[in-house]
Amino acid sequence: MDVIIVEDAAAVAERAAAQIAARIAAKPNAVLGVATGSSPVGTYEALAARVRDGRLDCSAVSAFALDEYAGLPLTHPEAYHEVIRRTVTEPLGLDPARVNVPDGSASDLAAAGEDYERRIAAAGGVDLQLLGIGANGHIGFNEPCSSFASRTRMKTLAPQTREDNARFFASLDDVPLHCITQGLGTILDARELLLVAQGEGKAEAVAAMIEGPVASICPASALQLHARATVIIDRAAASRLRLVDYYEHVQRHQPANRIPAEV
Ligand code: GLP
Repeated sequence: MDVIIVEDAAAVAERAAAQIAARIAAKPNAVLGVATGSSPVGTYEALAARVRDGRLDCSAVSAFALDEYAGLPLTHPEAYHEVIRRTVTEPLGLDPARVNVPDGSASDLAAAGEDYERRIAAAGGVDLQLLGIGANGHIGFNEPCSSFASRTRMKTLAPQTREDNARFFASLDDVPLHCITQGLGTILDARELLLVAQGEGKAEAVAAMIEGPVASICPASALQLHARATVIIDRAAASRLRLVDYYEHVQRHQPANRIPAEV
């Protein structure tokens, strides 16, 4: 795993955007996995700035969102369909026809999950999956003890996740109880993973993800099983890591021709 520690949230966004922009430059019709939540917002803004000034063209890029709340109308401002449209599709100039979000409004969520898996496969798989991390170590909405083999399916949100996300809703009671999310197995199938995290509130989950055992109690520890995973974090999110000096040593001594992610 590549662990890149930068000073602050703005630097996380810039570094992550640079990596994503490089991938799109190399493959203009790349399939991008996109995350919701606050963590990637700065990254999307940094990518949008590149699109605006003509350095980046995302018009041929396809996107697959990680997850969606169950039972919210698709037009609800906090439905991920709407969040992705607002924060990704429009500012990055993506073709809406190439942007996919799991259908949390489906009456049969199991069938919707299978359909989503088929759509990802038909697109040729995800080239680069952008991820955030929940305070309890979740990625997508794969809550603790999700199977590492899981595929897109319905999950029940953990109380902590509902409390964390209540800030986006009028009250805690308005936060859905269920969701549909790509599984850990689905996420691990992406050709490259890029996780961003900022702030002290993520420090414990980040330490468990990078330096803890591979265990589903911390779903993000699944990244240790991926051959091409990069984690970009600020100092606060890195504050519980034991090997900070080593990660910085590695970054200081990057061979110029080195492949982007260290295995
Ligand atoms: C959310 C999303 C995740 C996200 C995580 C952290 O609920 N389903 O994809 O990474 O929880 O959210 P935030 O970035 O707002 O801290």
